[in-house]
Amino acid sequence: MNLDELDEGFTWGVATAAYQIEGSPSADGKGPSIWDTFTHKRNRLGRGPIKDGSTGDIATDSYRRYPDDIALTAAMGFDAYRFSLSWPRICPDGDGRINQAGLDHYRRMADACLVAGIEPWVTLYHWDLPQTLEDAGGWPNRDTVFRFADYAGIVGAALGDRVTNWMVFNEALSFTLLGHMVGAHAPGRRGFHNFLPAAHHVNLATAMGARALRATATSPVVGTTAYLSPPIGSGPGPLARQAERAADAVLNRLFLEPNLGLGYPWREAPVLRAIERHIVAEDERDLVIDLDFLGVQYYTRLRAQWLPIPGLWTYPRFGRDRSLELTSLGWEVRPEGLGMVLDKVHSYGRYDRFVVTEGGASFDDVLVDGRVHDARRVTYYQSHLAEVAKAQQRGIPVDGYFAWSLLDNFEWAEGFRPRFGLVHVDYPTQQRTIKDSGYWFAQQLGGTATPTGPD
Ligand code: FCB
Repeated sequence: MNLDELDEGFTWGVATAAYQIEGSPSADGKGPSIWDTFTHKRNRLGRGPIKDGSTGDIATDSYRRYPDDIALTAAMGFDAYRFSLSWPRICPDGDGRINQAGLDHYRRMADACLVAGIEPWVTLYHWDLPQTLEDAGGWPNRDTVFRFADYAGIVGAALGDRVTNWMVFNEALSFTLLGHMVGAHAPGRRGFHNFLPAAHHVNLATAMGARALRATATSPVVGTTAYLSPPIGSGPGPLARQAERAADAVLNRLFLEPNLGLGYPWREAPVLRAIERHIVAEDERDLVIDLDFLGVQYYTRLRAQWLPIPGLWTYPRFGRDRSLELTSLGWEVRPEGLGMVLDKVHSYGRYDRFVVTEGGASFDDVLVDGRVHDARRVTYYQSHLAEVAKAQQRGIPVDGYFAWSLLDNFEWAEGFRPRFGLVHVDYPTQQRTIKDSGYWFAQQLGGTATPTGPD
């Protein structure tokens, strides 16, 4: 697979998220976020919610080292850097009080990208809600939608002269489900009474945030990103098919269809019906938004598992087909799934463009003599990019790919063990080393980075 098989004008990028890389949790007036609070929680046995007990207090120290990160992105030949803004750096209390130092930081970052010939792609929300808003009820509280729209307007006005490409949310499904239903992510809420209002409010905030950006930024191109999965029922028979449809409704449709004016897919997942309780009259109109692109994020296949409990709820599980290659997180490597989810979103006939805003894999990389020979990651990207090329040949307008991630970082509840980067990070020293996968991109994209250590 050569990257020039993809259409001309394709955007090549790397992606990161504020909490996973920045560190400096209280620098320059930043307020606490729900991830600052969550990672520091300990139970009576001294255990916290993160597998290795770590926090993002330092992470990759990118709040201070962002010039290095941007230089690495450029050296690997990429032309875009997707990063997220920390809302509590900009609005420490989640309200209209602006912390100018926070805004200035992101203005400098965007400028540094532009000087390096890299287009900044900015995500407004990659899961780090200001703690004050959580204390006031968080996403299950309708008021958070209006605070979010205000924040979107603030950043649109402050950065909209230098940032063109925007994503409102990162994976609405992941942070509502894991953070409000399962409790494994911040803020650690559980149950439908948290998940359903959070889901509706995030859908509303997608539309309101996009409108606020359009009202304030100079000439914004506004999308949002969605975690998508081709779900497979557990076993044969009608019950498995029903589970598959219910899982598809919750995993794929719940955060797309309301914004397309198609309502909530509760017929296939009756448990969603209770969301109606949280909808007020004007929401039907306010939810609908014509986005400029949809960010497609695909990692692996989720299996629908039927749980015979009231409400016909199906529980998503990661597929574990032992005949397939598994990553260090146990996720199946299944490149054709990317083609399947692109077909699915294209079949709505409603999106003008798609961008793969995340894709990547964690492996147990080892640094030896200044080199990381991550051949499996190179193969991963080759096979997934081949699917993107095939999708283009089928007429699907997909015009960008962002590798997750620029560098190894804090992988949420999994801590620092999974390594997703094109660049290896030695956490005690913060030493960055481009892996073979990074050199492969550099070679394909005409970057300047070349390996120095032994092959
Ligand atoms: C995605 C998240 C991203 C990272 C990757 C591995 O779901 O958006 O922050 O955790 O998974």
